[in-house]
Amino acid sequence: MIVENTSELKERIERLKREKNAVILAHYYTRPEVQAVADFLGDSLALSVRAQSVDADVILFAGVHFMAETAKVLCPEKKVLIPCPEAGCSLADSCPAAEFAAFKAKYPGHRVVSYVNTTVEVKALTDVCCTSSNALKVVESITADVPVLFGPDRNLGSYIRKLTGRTNMVLWDGACHVHEEFSLEKLLQLKREHPEARVVVHPECRPYILEVADYVGSTAGILDYCGRSEAREFIVVTEAGILAEMNRLYPDKRFIPAPPDDETCGCNNCRYMKMVTLEHIASSLETLSPEVVIDEEIRRRAERSIRNMIAIQ
Ligand code: 13P
Ligand code: SF4
Repeated sequence: MIVENTSELKERIERLKREKNAVILAHYYTRPEVQAVADFLGDSLALSVRAQSVDADVILFAGVHFMAETAKVLCPEKKVLIPCPEAGCSLADSCPAAEFAAFKAKYPGHRVVSYVNTTVEVKALTDVCCTSSNALKVVESITADVPVLFGPDRNLGSYIRKLTGRTNMVLWDGACHVHEEFSLEKLLQLKREHPEARVVVHPECRPYILEVADYVGSTAGILDYCGRSEAREFIVVTEAGILAEMNRLYPDKRFIPAPPDDETCGCNNCRYMKMVTLEHIASSLETLSPEVVIDEEIRRRAERSIRNMIAIQ
């Protein structure tokens, strides 16, 4: 077996992209070398929007499973490749479709809002999707007297409930293993060590972590804030993959990753996003597999909830 080095793999990927008329979309949480071969890098909202206008026969999604599904829902005529299908999401896993359907049945008359970090089957049960970039706008677009069922992230849900002051919002009890693990004690210690630093936090973190944030926002929102802010140092309370893009965009600023409770677990790295490697990408482009395949009826229903979101964004 020939073992290629990183630059050989990158060259092979570039050649295969041209040969197969393929485009690579990647999330900021993937490995830096994976981000380097992407044609478009973004957060979940930007990637969903970008998928619609891809001018290629093949979309290879370097990210987790639900993201590739979203691209396939929006581009059914294209071949959508998921180089590592085992790359799931603990948040999407915390919301099985059958249990979500039973939960929804208990709340008739509620408008169902689901975070895009869900399976296509859950999206098919949803009225309007949201991402962390637009969750506030999506919930605010619903008339105040219409009750809302929000899933699956309880932390994002309770944050939006607090911002809107809505009392008619029930939450599914799900969470992400990365964002739930940050330690308040260690974060406060870091703040004492870096008194000038701004604390930037993803809304999937627990409410007591959000309390100490200078800025709460999606991956793209955090990147934007760090660019606009006059501060030179930032304590970053989200998945550590974003640091590659921060250092690339703002080389003269300092980004300090916040530690999880158990620093030996590496929990501030999404183990699913990091499963995707250059080897997976090269082999997927070579064989044009594994491909995302979705039942057409489910796809159509999921498409409606995603398009409802895109219309609001
Ligand atoms: P973004 O919406 O910020 O891209 O977040 C995606 C995600 O998986 C967060 O854990
Ligand atoms: Fe899912 Fe959390 Fe990974 Fe995001 S960081 S993909 S929510 S497991």
